[in-house]
Amino acid sequence: MFGRPHRILSIILSAFGLFVTVTFLRRLHDGSIRHAIFTVSPSEANPPTPQILAFWESWAKVIDAARPKIPAIELKEVAQPAGKEPDNERERKPFNLSIGIPKNDIELLRQSHDKLVGHANFSKVDEQAARLFSGIGIVTVAGGSYFAPAILSIRMLRKTKSTLPVQVFLRNKAEYEKKICQEVLPALNAECFVIQDHLRKDNPVKVEHYQLKVLAILFSSYESVLYLDSDCIALLDPKELFDSEPFLSTGLVSWPDYWIATEDPVFYKIAGVPSFPKGLPARSSESGQLLISKQTHLSTLLLAAYYNIYGPSIYYPILSQGAAGEGDKETFLAAAVVLENPNYRVRHRLGALGFHEDRKFIGTAMVQYHPGDDYAPRDPTSLKQDRPLFLHANSPKMNIAHLLAADRVFYKGTEDRLRLWGPKESTTKMIGYDIEEAVWIEIVEMACQLDETLRDFHGAWRMCERAQRHYRETFQPEATALPT
Ligand SMILES: *[C@@H]1O[C@H](CO)[C@@H](O)[C@H](O)[C@H]1NC(C)=O
Ligand SMILES: *[C@@H]1O[C@H](CO)[C@@H](O)[C@H](O)[C@H]1NC(C)=O
Repeated sequence: MFGRPHRILSIILSAFGLFVTVTFLRRLHDGSIRHAIFTVSPSEANPPTPQILAFWESWAKVIDAARPKIPAIELKEVAQPAGKEPDNERERKPFNLSIGIPKNDIELLRQSHDKLVGHANFSKVDEQAARLFSGIGIVTVAGGSYFAPAILSIRMLRKTKSTLPVQVFLRNKAEYEKKICQEVLPALNAECFVIQDHLRKDNPVKVEHYQLKVLAILFSSYESVLYLDSDCIALLDPKELFDSEPFLSTGLVSWPDYWIATEDPVFYKIAGVPSFPKGLPARSSESGQLLISKQTHLSTLLLAAYYNIYGPSIYYPILSQGAAGEGDKETFLAAAVVLENPNYRVRHRLGALGFHEDRKFIGTAMVQYHPGDDYAPRDPTSLKQDRPLFLHANSPKMNIAHLLAADRVFYKGTEDRLRLWGPKESTTKMIGYDIEEAVWIEIVEMACQLDETLRDFHGAWRMCERAQRHYRETFQPEATALPT
């Protein structure tokens, strides 16, 4: 029926078909086609809200155009705000160290700064907030080794009976873990977003580390945000903070660090503030937690984003001069001060938890106090009645896989199990109960439930069993003692 030419054609077609099939199968095997077929969106995380995306896109252009036109700052001397800690009430004085930025560069920085703050739309930006954002909730940044502390923090939040929703921001697609984001977190009323999904492909700014925090707060759909570092644990339901003072009248609450602030006084010149501001708190900020309303502080956040995007090369050194913890910490309050937006700084000195080793105190966690109690003291004669509100467990972070890998964390050089946050009596005195035990109950459950799930836990040797043993021997020694 078919002539010779047809047979040749059909042989060629079959050979071509075979080639296509083989190529397809090979690429399916190496994942490239599978990827193309099954990837439906940039990442599988919740997609960004289009209005927030458009808002950021237009301001990112302004921030890009306001890029500082000076080389990266190199510090000749690092600020050492040592010595006696100042009184809580004492007012900030200009720190007696200056980077010595050349006059001409100061003027260039001022001009760039003004391209954002002096933008025709900037003074009206807060009015946009009601259109773009709604509701209240908690925002955190996690992913990779930060997932474990973040999940712990959210589990502890639920122990306070808090029903506040949580938005967890990850840096990029690579940090997205399907089972964590689609099962583990939603069961805790938390959801994942990817910061990279909010940035244009040709986004000129490299964002990492400290810069992620302000972007997570900005990109969150909540109008009012309690930002918590992944290693910061709420000790009480934070809901009441949103509908009481000092948040209601200021829309911005920040917490103190141990050390005094060390910004180069030239910062205010750059920011167009005529003289060193009056009434600033002496201490620098500890930004493991931050309470902010966008209706009153969307402009603060945009300016803080500017300080963070150009932070590593310019504004971090200007605002801290290399002092401990240099990073995003000062950028939020600095932005509010520059814009004369109201804010409240908790005066109650932060507490320190830790243990003693050879008579030396090793600090492992920080305790921050309730702004409402601080604002209107329950007992005006002392700060003792103020309730501890957050425990920022920053050193070491409570990631069981990493704790297990570092033996020192478990033993104090002897057979004794180490309590990282100090003796039961002292934590109970400060917090009201044995917080370390409460946290370890959650850690053990996580170690046993997520050892196969959380990527960062993979390969940890007998994690569940070792976590259980640490819990038993540290917190229930009577139960484990052998009968005599
Ligand atoms: C500023 O406002 C104008 C007019 O409403 C608008 O077209 C423009 O996109 C705005 N720019 C920014 C950065 O928001
Ligand atoms: C700044 O003050 C500290 C203590 O108050 C002092 O030790 C230091 O020498 C001073 N530094 C400069 C550059 O004046």
